Amino acid sequence: MNRQSGELAPTREPGSPEPDSQPFVHPAEDEFAAFLDFYRIQYQYEPTSFPLRWHDDGRIAEMFTPDYYLPDQDLYVELTTMKQAHVTRKNRKMRRLQELHPEINIVLIYRKNYHEILSRFGYGSVDITSLREDQIERILLSQKEIQARVRELGKQISEDYAGKSILLVGVLKGITFFLADLARSITRPLAIDYMQLTRAVDDGVQIDKDLDLDIEGQHVLLVEDIVNTGVTMDFLLERLRERKPASLRVCALLDKADRRLAPVNVRYIGFEIPNEFVVGYGLDYRELYRNLPFVCVLKKDVYEAGPALEG
Ligand code: IMP
Ligand code: MG
Repeated sequence: MNRQSGELAPTREPGSPEPDSQPFVHPAEDEFAAFLDFYRIQYQYEPTSFPLRWHDDGRIAEMFTPDYYLPDQDLYVELTTMKQAHVTRKNRKMRRLQELHPEINIVLIYRKNYHEILSRFGYGSVDITSLREDQIERILLSQKEIQARVRELGKQISEDYAGKSILLVGVLKGITFFLADLARSITRPLAIDYMQLTRAVDDGVQIDKDLDLDIEGQHVLLVEDIVNTGVTMDFLLERLRERKPASLRVCALLDKADRRLAPVNVRYIGFEIPNEFVVGYGLDYRELYRNLPFVCVLKKDVYEAGPALEG
């Protein structure tokens, strides 16, 4: 056997066509690609053909070309939404591939799992998710992107506060998930406290719930979901400064710098985003959408129904 270990054949063997893996030949493949796009999950369509069997003279007798490769997950995905005959054949190919390349991560997605995945992640026909689908314009930051960035922020903060302990101050309620994730990625000792504000239509910002802890002499890191005009942050910083913390810095998940009216120094920024109204990962529109695992832009007709509540 002339197996070229680790070598990936660049093209499909002309003698062994793959009837069910031509570019988007099956609507499910098209749909799955749209699903990956929707979630901003990077993928390559059929990037690699793996030789599975060889003729005695070394020519390739059988190949396997998984439908997708997801580089961030280092995972090949093969969709099997077709007939049972294909499933059996694919199962055999999968086993063979795993024998030859045990280091390769690959999943075979069956028809039933496929629909489950689409609906579980908000792209499909199940009630709650179809509701999302027609309210969400587009995903701005995927769960994966957020998680990776939050880990980076945690690492940076841990380094910058070496030898110190931190008092994290979160502004409710948008901060819920960001603070929870950020705190767990910081490796310094820390305390957590919360404030809640209201923004009256005319007379600016008001403290609704104040801190429980005394911040004098503490290294305070104020954590916000989003800095928009900066008016909220400016107000908060002034109030906190009066209480004489040892240091006071700001960490915001999102920054709409274009909208800034009050100049605030945001030391740690997760993502700069364009001037669009976003929800998810703690951010709400009229108290809804906080539990979406990603950050997305709402469709105009949803947003134009009325102004957003603060939070
Ligand atoms: P600022 O005072 O204009 O900087 O507004 C900050 C506050 O407005 C944030 O703490 C959020 O509660 C809210 N906010 C601003 N932009 C958005 C958004 O796009 N989605 C959800 N809430 C937002
Ligand atoms: Mg807020």
